[in-house]
Amino acid sequence: MSSSRIAAFIYLFAAIAFLLQTASGADPLLHICSDSGNFSAYDPYETNLRLLTAHLSIQAPPSGFGLASIGQNPNRAHGLALCRGDVSSQDCKTCVVEAGSEIRKRCPHDKGAIIWYDDCLFKYSNVEFFGRIDDRNRFYMYNLNNVSEPGVFNAKTRELLSELANQAYGNPKMYAAGEMELYGSEKLYGLTQCTRDLSNDECKKCLDGIIGELPSCCDGKQGGRIVGGSCNFRYEIYPFVKA
Ligand SMILES: *[C@@H]1O[C@H](CO)[C@@H](O)[C@H](O)[C@H]1NC(C)=O
Ligand SMILES: *[C@@H]1O[C@H](CO)[C@@H](O)[C@H](O)[C@H]1NC(C)=O
Repeated sequence: MSSSRIAAFIYLFAAIAFLLQTASGADPLLHICSDSGNFSAYDPYETNLRLLTAHLSIQAPPSGFGLASIGQNPNRAHGLALCRGDVSSQDCKTCVVEAGSEIRKRCPHDKGAIIWYDDCLFKYSNVEFFGRIDDRNRFYMYNLNNVSEPGVFNAKTRELLSELANQAYGNPKMYAAGEMELYGSEKLYGLTQCTRDLSNDECKKCLDGIIGELPSCCDGKQGGRIVGGSCNFRYEIYPFVKA
């Protein structure tokens, strides 16, 4: 399959996921099984993965982020779990537990995989990936409705997200949410977030990279997200961040 077909597929899938997601908040947005290797039942890798998943579901909820490696090479498993910055510890735990079980059903034999929900991201691999920007796992979601003044709206969106990127990379939680006046009484709401294995500089680089993709993702759309393995943004014309 050519990479453009994969991109088109993910794009379509993302649009469908967006429609389905309004029906139930607990459905995954998307998952990707990686091609870094396979394992079979009773493989030591499976045990390490199970321990890693259990560990992250305890480690992540208090702060919203967990990062760990379990086992010895060649069966060592590396993983992270990240909850959206406004999600409670309780909801974070629910999401990470669900993610850890669902991804194993969807990618039962793959040594690496990633799954995204509204509330959290869960990723693991046999290849150590900490501190490096994940350029491979990324997808777009957008509201199918167009805004009436795309020129002004696109500029405002970029301005808000750039401001939030600057706040996020300097913040210990690598998360920022905020709002901005649009026209009249309307407002634009946004958030930006990075996984906390990145340095401040890498977080900024990651967010600047996806914000640069706004024209291909979300040109003139009432809402949009670029969701990656290391950072993401979202904007909407309605409030979506929990107080
Ligand atoms: C992994 O499993 C898939 C599906 O069964 C298979 O297509 C692929 O060749 C396998 N890869 C390796 C490295 O064994
Ligand atoms: C939004 O604009 C695009 C491109 O002009 C168009 O194809 C699409 O049908 C529009 N969507 C809606 C919901 O009107």
